[in-house]
Amino acid sequence: GLKKKEVNVLCLGLDNSGKTTIINQLKPPNHSNHLGPLSEEWKHVSQTQAQEIVPTIGFNIEKFKSSSLSFTVFDMSGQSRYRNLWEHYYKESHAIIFVIDSSDKLRMVVAKEELDTLLNHEDIRSKRIPVLFFANKIDLQDAMSSVKVSQMLCLENIKDKPWHICASNAIKGEGLQEGLDWLQDHLK
Ligand code: GTP
Ligand code: MG
Repeated sequence: GLKKKEVNVLCLGLDNSGKTTIINQLKPPNHSNHLGPLSEEWKHVSQTQAQEIVPTIGFNIEKFKSSSLSFTVFDMSGQSRYRNLWEHYYKESHAIIFVIDSSDKLRMVVAKEELDTLLNHEDIRSKRIPVLFFANKIDLQDAMSSVKVSQMLCLENIKDKPWHICASNAIKGEGLQEGLDWLQDHLK
């Protein structure tokens, strides 16, 4: 058949924001890579997928396919001691997924600092790559709205890249499809 376009997606954000949980939801429940992230299958929430998740050490590479794209996702650790690994993958990335814990008010300023550092990096600054934000953990009682998260991160200041923010509950898989659809549209 036709060769799918190959895209590298960097998944970034502070530790505990839900990056790995999101990526796991994009994988088919049987963990094989034969089914694409946008198939009906991926919406299925398996309890094991949620329970297996542990803090990422360094990073993990996940591959999956949609109807038109072949994704290689770099699921980076958000722990401060590993954040210096992020920049090594900026050059080859075609898109960024930036995940925020909407309930973590105390560290919103840290998330903003990391985002600003990312956007000002020489390997990212000049590229018009799409940036998808997940305002994750909206199920938690003290979670901020995606509008509030967007304001706290000053996303309206991003003028040189297409960006989009989605509220999500990664455990239930809510909001992920909308985000991925947007990303796909901007990677064609
Ligand atoms: P690092 O690998 O350390 O950078 O963290 P991470 O961003 O990959 O976070 P991870 O996916 O490991 O999730 C951290 C914790 O948050 C886990 O206990 C998840 O079950 C939980 N979690 C993830 N998404 C959600 C969500 O939408 N709502 C709630 N309530 N918990 C979530
Ligand atoms: Mg992780």
